[in-house]
Amino acid sequence: MNILGIESSCDDTSAAVLTSEGVKSNVIASQSIHLKFGGVVPELASRAHQKTISQTVEQALEEASTSLDEIDAIAVTQGPGLMGSLLVGLCFAKGLALSKGIPLVGVNHMDAHIYANFIDYTPEFPFLCLTVSGGHTQLVYVKAPFEHEILGKTRDDAAGEAFDKIGKILGLPYPAGPVMDKLAKEGDPKFHKFPQALANEGLDFSFSGLKTSALYYIQDKDEEWVQDHMNDICASVSEAISGVLIKKLKRAVKQTGVKTIALAGGVSANSMLRSKTQSLAEEMGLNLYSPQMSYCTDNAAMIAITGRMKAELGEFDELDIKPFASI
Ligand code: KG4
Ligand code: ZN
Repeated sequence: MNILGIESSCDDTSAAVLTSEGVKSNVIASQSIHLKFGGVVPELASRAHQKTISQTVEQALEEASTSLDEIDAIAVTQGPGLMGSLLVGLCFAKGLALSKGIPLVGVNHMDAHIYANFIDYTPEFPFLCLTVSGGHTQLVYVKAPFEHEILGKTRDDAAGEAFDKIGKILGLPYPAGPVMDKLAKEGDPKFHKFPQALANEGLDFSFSGLKTSALYYIQDKDEEWVQDHMNDICASVSEAISGVLIKKLKRAVKQTGVKTIALAGGVSANSMLRSKTQSLAEEMGLNLYSPQMSYCTDNAAMIAITGRMKAELGEFDELDIKPFASI
């Protein structure tokens, strides 16, 4: 089955072609317009999607050396995400589906982050997936395809949001997660002990206290000192975030008895989180899966693979499906 995937839930316009041979193209047009605002401006995001969606899809088809005539299904993000952004991708996909008579499959963006693991691998069910992105932080028990139970989630900020907000306080460009990851590699994670909220209770997360704690810590220091200790501060923040994520993951493994764990979402590209997860898997004798870097952050290949899994189960959608902003 040849699938065209389309993703536009936030600030990346993406289109991908997936065939029986694998991912043939995965074009991602990132929006730089938000940089100067230090975060995504929804109205600007939807306008930018409108400008780029057509050429992004064309490029994906071209790079895959294919045309719409050879596409068997169009998979498109239905939600969660920014309503205006979702509408652009969904309307475009519906237009293509209608004009070419191609079946449509609506995809849940959070499911797609999980099933990004199936692009290159075949994780065995049941497994636990730690889904960590800019908008969500979830511990998901994946019993069977599309049979999920959310065991824990954040009560306030998402893990990626914590990286981005603390990075903004530090004067780093948006999104700060990847920048902090790079700087942290040269720093000392034990330089300062930032709080790990709810570390010893349950499976829910909370990151707003960490952000406030970082704000107080940084505003007390002069700018030169902060610049001189940037790597150590980034390493200490990364330690706090990845540390608490791993503690919860370990607790959930013990609680469920799973033998397989997976990472998903933009923050799963974080090197400290990856190495801690690797150590946890070795310590507990678990199989570990994580998508390759380009399939961690928002991309249409993950939408295409999820769409294909749904299509194989016969789960197609009508052309009147609506976007949804939250789960
Ligand atoms: O999954 P994603 O692309 O978009 C959402 O659905 O939110 O995740 C984006 C988030 C941003 O908060 C970004 O800062 C974070 O993922 N991120 C990282 C890294 N790469 C992306 N955070 C920490 N370390 C990274 N290497
Ligand atoms: Zn995402």
